[in-house]
Parts: sequence; C-alpha cells; structure tokens
Amino acid sequence: MCLKGYKSKGCLGAQGIPAGTWFRGNMEGEFTGKEVYRQHFDPKGYLKVHMPFGSGSPAVREGGFAFILENLHKAFLLDGIQGETLIDIGSGPSIYQLLSACESFQEIIATEFLEQNREEMQKWLKKDPEAFDWTLMVKYICQLEGDREKWMEKEEKLRKTIKQVLKCDVTQANPLDPLVLQPASCVLTTFCLESACKDLPTYRSALKNVGSLVKPGGHLIFVVALRETYYMVGQEKFSCLYLEPEVVEEAVKEAGFGIVCFERFEVNFTRGIADAQSIGFLVAQKHNEA
Ligand SMILES: C[S@@+](CC[C@H](N)C(=O)[O-])C[C@H]1O[C@@H](n2cnc3c(N)ncnc32)[C@H](O)[C@@H]1O
Repeated sequence: MCLKGYKSKGCLGAQGIPAGTWFRGNMEGEFTGKEVYRQHFDPKGYLKVHMPFGSGSPAVREGGFAFILENLHKAFLLDGIQGETLIDIGSGPSIYQLLSACESFQEIIATEFLEQNREEMQKWLKKDPEAFDWTLMVKYICQLEGDREKWMEKEEKLRKTIKQVLKCDVTQANPLDPLVLQPASCVLTTFCLESACKDLPTYRSALKNVGSLVKPGGHLIFVVALRETYYMVGQEKFSCLYLEPEVVEEAVKEAGFGIVCFERFEVNFTRGIADAQSIGFLVAQKHNEA
C-alpha cells in the first residue's frame, strides 16, 4: 500500500532561517495556541518556507516531498483508494496533498481552521493573480501519472473537484461544527494534528474527532511529522507536538482503525525550517463495527 525504499536522509532546500528567531508561544518551547495562529500564521510565509517547488528550488527529492507525493499517488491511483467524498482536514493554504486524490474522488471538501488560509486557497481556486504558484508541483504529479504536459488539465480538474472550503477545528468532537456532514469514504490530513494539539491526550482525542468523519470501511490517510518540536512560518517558530511513531499507531488504533501501512522517511532540516526527524505516511481503515 505504501511506497518502500525511502531510507536516505534529505533536507528541504528552502531559505535559510536567521539565528535568533523566536518561538510563537509566549516562551521557548511553549505550545502555539489558537489565538497566535489567528494573528501570526502567514499563509505565504508558510508556503515560501515549506514548498520546495513554489519557492523556486528544484529540491524535490530532498525533505520528503517526493516521498509524500509518491505515496499519495500510489494510495489513490495504484492501490485504488477511491470513493465519492474525500475530506481534507487542516488543508492550510496548500493544495499539493489533493493533486492525486482528485483523480479518485468525485468531490473533495477542503477544511481549515484559519480564515487567512481558506482565503489563500480560494485565491488559487479562483485563479487570482496573487495566488501561490503551484505549477512545478502540479507538473511533478502529472509526470508521476505519465504525462507532465497535462498540468493545466490537472489544475482544472482539482479546481472542479474541490466543492467546498470549510472551517474546521480538530479539537471539537465534530471538527466541522456547526455543519454535520455524511461520513466520508476517506479523510486525509497532512501535518495538522501535531500542530493543533498541545499534548498527547488532546492528540488522541483529536484523532477520534477526525476519525469520526470516516465511514465504516473507509480510509484515514495522514502525513505526520515525527519527533518534531517546531516548524517555521516565515521567520517565526510554531510549536509541534513531539510524536514517536508508536504513539501515532496507538492513537490510530484507539480511534477504531486498523493500520494498513505506516512508512517513514528520515529528514534532516539543515536550514532550520523544522526539526522533524522523519515524516510518516500512514494509511488506516476504519473497522466496520466502529
Ligand atoms: C503545518 S500546517 C499544515 C497545512 C497543510 N495541511 C499542509 O500540509 O501544508 C498546520 C495546519 O494546521 C492548522 N490548525 C491549527 N490548529 C488547528 C485546529 N485546532 N484545527 C484544525 N486545524 C488547525 C493550521 O491552521 C495549519 O493550516
């Protein structure tokens, strides 16, 4: 189900982060809470630092992006995870995680906690000239699918497949409250829960909340930063819940899922944009009785 063979170390090739940056909690090591997110999470600052293609760097093999994109491609196109609806939880200002999924789902519902991130995504959906440029990322995915030249069609397909961009909060029992959606065939989430949760009990509970959006027999797919304490948004440090892979596995099982695969890719962020030791790609399936 997941791609094997990603054993080498990589590093993201984004801008160097100057020394002396400060932590967006109140103190070094403190959790970055919701209000700080609202006031200080700059969508373009995040994208510029973390998206190797968009920032003009050709460093796709480094930093795990090839690992993520190729695993998503495999899950949705080769292993046949498909269905009517996919919900992406905590999409941020990003669309990279949906480029393969749009070939396998009739509709995608993007969700995000912050208004500024939902607006940034809407800019791309509406082809606003100020939208972030995902072209190189889209071309890379098209190449995986067999024809790099079809990138404009792919962009159009994704724009048509994303039917809604909703507000979500993974700390709520129903993350989409006050909306109540039909449970979906698949829920995807990339680098969200470890950013949103202040401790392990909150993480386990958030996983149950997100898992409740999956229908029995459906899939939960997530990309998770492992053993990470911070990531950069522009020039500012945001906290990340330190997660061992075993803790993630236990939380997924506790939420009523069986693990189909859990692949890891070691990373080494030499320029300080984050301090994760590896990135995990996990596919789980909800028990029918759950
Ligand atoms: C590291 S970013 C990842 C964004 C995107 N999924 C990606 O892969 O680029 C973390 C995201 O979690 C979101 N987030 C923070 N607190 C949240 C909460 N309580 N509920 C849902 N999302 C939250 C942030 O707004 C941000 O978009």
